Amino acid sequence: MATRSPQSAVPRRAVRTIEGSSERERLRTVVVPEHDDLAVLVADRMVEVIHRETAGKGQCVLGLATGSTPLGVYQELIRRHQAGEVDFARVIAFNLDEYYPMPAASPQSYRRYMAENFFAHVNVRPEQVHIPDGGAPRDRLAELCTAYERAIADAGGLDFQILGIGKTGHIGFNEPGSSPDSRTRLVTLDTITRKDAAGDFFGEENVPREALTMGVATILEAREIALIATGEHKAAIVQRAVEGDVSPDVAATFLQRHPAVTVYLDRAAAAELTRIKTPWVLEPVEWTPPTVERAVVWLAERTGKAILKLAARDYAEHHLSPLLAKSGAPGPINGQVFNRLRDKVRGRAKLPAHQRVLVFSPHPDDDVISMGGVLRKLWENENAIVVAYMTSGNIAVFDHDVRRHLDFVERAAGVLGLDPNRARERRAAIEAQLEAKAPGAVDITEVQQLKRLIRESEAISALESVGIPRGSARFLDLPFYRTGEVRKHPVGEADVAIVRSLLDDVRPDLMFVAGDLSDPHGTHRTCQVAIERALAGYGGARPEIWLYRGAWQEWSVTEADVLVPLSQDELRAKIFAIFKHQSQKDTAPFPGAHDDREFWQRVEARNLETAARADRLGLPEYYAMEAYRIL
Ligand code: F6R
Repeated sequence: MATRSPQSAVPRRAVRTIEGSSERERLRTVVVPEHDDLAVLVADRMVEVIHRETAGKGQCVLGLATGSTPLGVYQELIRRHQAGEVDFARVIAFNLDEYYPMPAASPQSYRRYMAENFFAHVNVRPEQVHIPDGGAPRDRLAELCTAYERAIADAGGLDFQILGIGKTGHIGFNEPGSSPDSRTRLVTLDTITRKDAAGDFFGEENVPREALTMGVATILEAREIALIATGEHKAAIVQRAVEGDVSPDVAATFLQRHPAVTVYLDRAAAAELTRIKTPWVLEPVEWTPPTVERAVVWLAERTGKAILKLAARDYAEHHLSPLLAKSGAPGPINGQVFNRLRDKVRGRAKLPAHQRVLVFSPHPDDDVISMGGVLRKLWENENAIVVAYMTSGNIAVFDHDVRRHLDFVERAAGVLGLDPNRARERRAAIEAQLEAKAPGAVDITEVQQLKRLIRESEAISALESVGIPRGSARFLDLPFYRTGEVRKHPVGEADVAIVRSLLDDVRPDLMFVAGDLSDPHGTHRTCQVAIERALAGYGGARPEIWLYRGAWQEWSVTEADVLVPLSQDELRAKIFAIFKHQSQKDTAPFPGAHDDREFWQRVEARNLETAARADRLGLPEYYAMEAYRIL
């Protein structure tokens, strides 16, 4: 296939990088504002390498990764291939790893992931694709691993390796303790890695305990390496890998020994790097009001003092003399930051009243989990509220909940004057289907619908428990989510049209949107894209938008624009509303790794902590607080 000039085909989006002192960084690190910008930069580099190598030596050898992070890169490469900008006919591909055991056809196999997300859409020759064989018998693994290494060497070595990073710091599946000399082999997966993968396997117990992976030495022999990470859940491990000492505890630190590694990060994944978190300790910064606020709150927390008690000496001893020099004395700076923070606190009297409010809840419980407190206050302020549940959330319902509801339907049939025989028959048929289902397999449509209805009735019950009538609920059941699998479709026109028609109908003055940066399956992000695209074509006046965080994180007091105080009773009412989501209680299928607490426990801790933090900074002392950011 002839390739067209890169400039002529697909209009290239300009990607801005976020600059700052890289003094502490031991790996070349590129930070971009958005998740999607990374895909553009990494694809740019890969296309360059493919052109250079195929022109120079007639082939290009790529090392490829799976997981959620590189998906955007594959989509970008596919787009460029379809535009005629890049040809994969002379590309040889080696994947990093595969679970073991793992039948190739299983929905969770990396072989299938690669086929569906990349190979099926480009012209790589099937015989040039190499993925460790998760279906091989155990007694042949050592021999196959040696053959994998040999095949890489015979191809002339890897020209370019793309890597993600796990929360354990693994690259490939080289978990803590991996040696820098390790080669392709069978490894035992770390508990954290298995928890992280639990969602893909419908439960941690279904995640394989082992995997086949290229070794650290195999990876380090690649001539060029790109490590990519997105989302705030990666921020801590990225900081360790980029700024920390080399150690077998974090396999990614071995990359510091390689001469040609670039780490590509979105802003959320870079958040813990010194240049982003506390740039004033490295270099002179421009003292805008938000930067002054961040620096002073940081100083107060470091010194354990309330803001209004910070003294000149505190500033001088913590790299903040340049800030102090701006006004000569700490008083005006302390006062300015204290007032900014105090003005963020908005009790009921300062919240909107008599307006049209549209709340977007990606899953059926995000509304009460994230904003159960403000929802009740907005209702009390006589706002007209519509809560739009964007997806059904049906994949997060256990089969036993379906059984329980079917039992109820069968028992209730007689009382309700319905045909008990028919109810019994349908129950038996569905029970038999559930019995026969393999772990992790997709539910039949009828079960998917029942799971959707379970969540819808829970959402209504939760709304009613914060005082909002059932008529305020709209269930959008967006098509992008209707795959029955963890993996979803991208946002399509049908999704956007549904959201736009809701906007036309409600014509909101104020909207609430989930603004998290690290929802495990990306559904919140996808929902946000659907809203943005719908707003782009919406004829009405642009509403004010308040972003809330989802179940996993909270805006800090400096990130937030609005802090809503909650009394003990209000927090309790919010928690009772969360309890109404019974299918998600006790052991939710997708609680997110690293935190065994239930959603209500996390919410309680988070809302208490925001108030406690404000209190420590010297602001009025409240029982609990929710936090919002105005877009
Ligand atoms: C995948 C692989 C892993 C992932 C890492 C991050 O082939 O080797 O190291 O890159 O676990 O996974 P995501 O991108 O899903 O966060």
